[in-house]
Amino acid sequence: MTDVTDRIVAVTGATDGIGRAMVHRLAAAGATTIVHGRSAQRVDDTIAEIRAAQPAATLFGYVADFASLAAVRAFAETLATDFPRIDVLINNAGIGSGGRGGAREISADGYELRFAVNFLAPFLLTGLTLPLARESSAARIVNVASIGQAPLDFEDVMLEHGYDGGRAYSQSKLALITFTFALAERLRSAGIENVTANVLHPSSLMPTKMVFESFGYTLSTLEAGVEATLRLAVAPALAGVSGRYYDVLREDRAQSQAYDEGARERLWSLAERLCGFAYLSSKTASTVVPPVQGPAPLGAVTQSMANSDTPV
Ligand SMILES: NC(=O)c1ccc[n+]([C@@H]2O[C@H](COP(=O)([O-])OP(=O)(O)OC[C@H]3O[C@@H](n4cnc5c(N)ncnc54)[C@H](OP(=O)(O)O)[C@@H]3O)[C@@H](O)[C@H]2O)c1
Repeated sequence: MTDVTDRIVAVTGATDGIGRAMVHRLAAAGATTIVHGRSAQRVDDTIAEIRAAQPAATLFGYVADFASLAAVRAFAETLATDFPRIDVLINNAGIGSGGRGGAREISADGYELRFAVNFLAPFLLTGLTLPLARESSAARIVNVASIGQAPLDFEDVMLEHGYDGGRAYSQSKLALITFTFALAERLRSAGIENVTANVLHPSSLMPTKMVFESFGYTLSTLEAGVEATLRLAVAPALAGVSGRYYDVLREDRAQSQAYDEGARERLWSLAERLCGFAYLSSKTASTVVPPVQGPAPLGAVTQSMANSDTPV
């Protein structure tokens, strides 16, 4: 791997799947590695496992359940206290479609769960840690999305009508892609040249929990996803590259809504409102904005539809 001994790298969702494999690789290569998970036990286990193999590894563990925006805020505040900068933020934590017939779920803030964990949490974390990224000589934000992409219906973002887990997953992933494009553009417009943002589909049906839960079979190796994601995070060849979507190693086009200027603006404003936090806004610096009035209505929570055909 590229020399990462001077890099501070944060990986969310590092307690399983490709996140866990990535922190092993980063720590072994000498990066200061921030291991995030939603379970203290699993964070401790991951760190102990790495330390057993790499006694000299520089590791820091953090717990934050991304189903709660307050937890995301607390996590970001702790990072700001503990680190002078962050060189790489890999927004990897995510949940799958919930399997065949999975019911609609909501976050602690009352938002549709996949939209909240897979999109709102990284949107907020990225914004709150941007001051740390700006302290880096060359920071990279890497968002782990998917080839499973569905356009948002802005009239029903919380999927209160006709819920389907595959669609919930896919719209959250397209939101993450659209956000990445908007982020790269806003960083550029703000003259922030030392922070790049890219997004990828890491690989199809790797052998991880979410795949076994929804599909029961695999197509790619874990290593393929690890390689593709770490390439965006540290490969010298991608220095300065920003605002791109990759299908594993190949630059590709995402679903068309991600290129719709109006949709990008609308999504960004919506995310700011739902998170109660604005950043890189065209007219303002980072500010707290009034949150939406109360949680989104629960809507139907029981509609079950087969959704395991959605690619991840
Ligand atoms: N596997 C694939 O084939 C595939 C394909 C395309 C995209 N992806 C994307 O790749 C990323 C990693 O997926 P994976 O396959 O490695 O999944 P995974 O094995 O299920 O791991 C997901 C990670 O995210 C964490 N996480 C889940 N919910 C969370 C929450 N509410 N708050 C904080 N952390 C949470 C998990 O914590 P726990 O350990 O506590 O569960 C785990 O560390 C995801 O964004 C996924 O959408 C995967």
